[in-house]
Formats: sequence, C-alpha cells, structure tokens
Amino acid sequence: MATLTFENVTKWFGKVVAVNDFSLVVEDSEFLVLLGPSGCGKTTAMRMVAGLEEVTTGYIYIDKKDITDLPPRKRNVSMVFQNYAVWPHMTVYENIAYPLRLKKVPRSEIEAKVEEVARLVKIDPLLQRFPSQLSGGQQQRVAVARAIAVEPKIFVMDEPLSNLDAKLRGSMRTELKAIHIQTGATTVFVTHDQSEAMSMADRIVVMKDGEVVQVGSPDDVYDRSASVFVADFIGTPPTNFLNVNLNRENGTVNLVNPHFKLTLEDKCAQILKDYYKEKLILGIRPENIILVPEGLALFTSDCLVSEPQGSHQVIAVELDERYIKVVAPSQPKINPGDIIHLNFKQETLHYFDPDTELSVGHACEDD
Ligand SMILES: Nc1ncnc2c1ncn2[C@@H]1O[C@H](COP(=O)(O)OP(=O)(O)OP(=O)(O)O)[C@@H](O)[C@H]1O
Ligand SMILES: [Mg+2]
Repeated sequence: MATLTFENVTKWFGKVVAVNDFSLVVEDSEFLVLLGPSGCGKTTAMRMVAGLEEVTTGYIYIDKKDITDLPPRKRNVSMVFQNYAVWPHMTVYENIAYPLRLKKVPRSEIEAKVEEVARLVKIDPLLQRFPSQLSGGQQQRVAVARAIAVEPKIFVMDEPLSNLDAKLRGSMRTELKAIHIQTGATTVFVTHDQSEAMSMADRIVVMKDGEVVQVGSPDDVYDRSASVFVADFIGTPPTNFLNVNLNRENGTVNLVNPHFKLTLEDKCAQILKDYYKEKLILGIRPENIILVPEGLALFTSDCLVSEPQGSHQVIAVELDERYIKVVAPSQPKINPGDIIHLNFKQETLHYFDPDTELSVGHACEDD
C-alpha cells in the first residue's frame, strides 16, 4: 500500500519534451487511469516510475521516499506492458516464480504464492504450459500474475489490453478491476481508449503534449470537461461543437447561430454572467440533443446518416458545414432523408472560450 507522487517531472529526449512539468499524487489503493492520445507521454511517465527512463528534472516519490534515482529493482514497482513481455523459454509457473526467486522468497512460499495469483487471474490450469501455447489474453494474464505476485507498492499497467480483441478487452477490464478491488494495490493504468478509462477509473488524468490537462472522476471529465480538447476526447461519439454569438437583450441571453436562436433559461444564463466576449463555443453531447415535435424545435434538419446500435441509434445531421451527431432511442427508426426536429437539453450545455478553448462553465455545475 502506497502513494505515488510526481513533483514537477520533466523528461526531454534530445529536443523533444515528452513529459512536461508533470505533478500528480496517486492516492493509496487508488485505480488511476492515465489517458491521452498517442505520443502524449503516457509511457514515458510510467517508465520513469519503474526506473526504466531517467528523469530530466523533478522528483518521484513512493510514500515519502524519493525514488527518482533508485535502480528499478529497489523501487517495488511492477509494470505490465502492452506486448505481454512474458519469457518464452519459461513455463507459466516459472514466469511467475522467477521474480520471487530473485527476491529470495523461500521455496515453499513461492509455490503457494504462484498458485494464489494464478487462481486470481484464472490461469491455474495452465501453469505447466509455455507462452507459445497460450492465447494473447492468457499471456497477458501471466504478465499480470507475475506483476502482482511480488506484491508491489505500485502497480503500473501500460495499455495491457490493447492487443486483445474487443470482446476479450471488455471482460478483462472487469477482471482487472476485480483484481484491484481484491489486492488494493495502488494502480496506474495507461490507455488511449476513453471508454476503457471511463469504465475503470477512480480518477482519470487526461494528458496532452506531455502535460496534465484535467484530473477528475469519470463524471468530472465527462460532465465538466475543462477544455474543448477534453470534451472532444472523452465520449463516443464525441461532443458536438457549435460557434455561436452571444446576444444580450432585455436581460435575457441568446445564443445565436445562422440556424437557431437559443434563449437561455435564467440558471443557464447565470453561468455566463462574467463572460463578456461576443463569441462562444457551445459544446453539446450527442445524447443531449433530443428529437422533439415540430412546435418545440430549436432547429430542423434532415437526417444524413443513421447508424442503428441496437440499444440506440446515432443520427448525423449537417449544421454549419459540420456533422452533428445525435444519440436517439432506437425507436422510432430514423432513416436518411427524414426531416427531424431537434432541441438541446439546456441544463447539459458546455461553454468554451473560442480564444483559449478553455471551459467558461457548465450548466450542470449547480446540480
Ligand atoms: N527513446 C525515445 N527517444 C526519443 N523520443 C522518444 C523516446 N521515447 C518516446 N519519445 C517521444 O516522446 C513522446 C512521448 O512518447 P510516449 O511513448 O511516452 O507516448 P505515449 O503517450 O505512450 O503514446 P502511445 O499512446 O502511442 O503509446 C513522443 O513524442 C515520442 O516520440
Ligand atoms: Mg505508450
């Protein structure tokens, strides 16, 4: 059990800054997910924790101990990689037992420990096989078993599920979460898959270009996205963005666009009371655009594409020369060419400053 602290950690590779002034505290027993697009510095940050990469400036602590310059074996950090990295010439049993031998754990305890973790990750019938006789999912379970057998203070998983097919990925998510609940190990899980992050995390750290852009619960990053980048990155389909002009008349606030004029309810207008610019980016999630009878429409459009998903349908319409996606109930079925009437759930709108692309406020803030 431990906390992991990054204090102003920066990593340069030649002239490339891979991680930039990264500060974060991972709490004891937390399941923290590091999320961000390819190349944003996730792996580099984790390799610095494991001691596989030197820190250029800054400090990393486990509990109160500075581990910045400690060799990997003295850190008590276990890391699981995307490409399994199990030893091909050893059986599953030996793969799990080997790091315990290195730690000079007594023989009798090794056997018990290997069996315990093998049961936990459901590979106990496979202990005598070699990795080449296992599926990808089974190999990754071996890697997870090997990593948790040494009872690390910090458990790091770098995209451990990305090489698995979608269905297996889904079930392994649940299993890894269940293992975390049983072991309580402080865990950092890296992914660029936002839905994986949403479903697994206690807290999500969103990274971009080596920097932290938002830290929060899955609800925080989804409902209270800090920037256009986060609102766009989190959620499938992503947030829709519309440029609007703010027009204040007789005490009311209107958001105006060539296609609609939205008069904000008082509570929503209140959020913009200190915002004096004329232009605004409106963010609206696809499930918060609703099909309404004609008389209640904010705007009317024809359906370009509809994608049935079983539990719902995703409808695309064109507005302002961009596609707007709407998540609607599966019935009534909407077909391309159908005229549909739409409105926004005002209480879910996100507002962003077009100059900084940072959030100005969220309608749900006062919930
Ligand atoms: N050994 C290296 N030498 C030079 N540049 C590197 C090295 N390792 C990483 N980088 C650069 O550092 C940046 C961050 O890379 P990193 O592998 O940490 O990203 P990532 O977020 O893990 O991406 P992905 O999702 O693709 O795994 C990238 O610009 C990458 O090209
Ligand atoms: Mg990576």
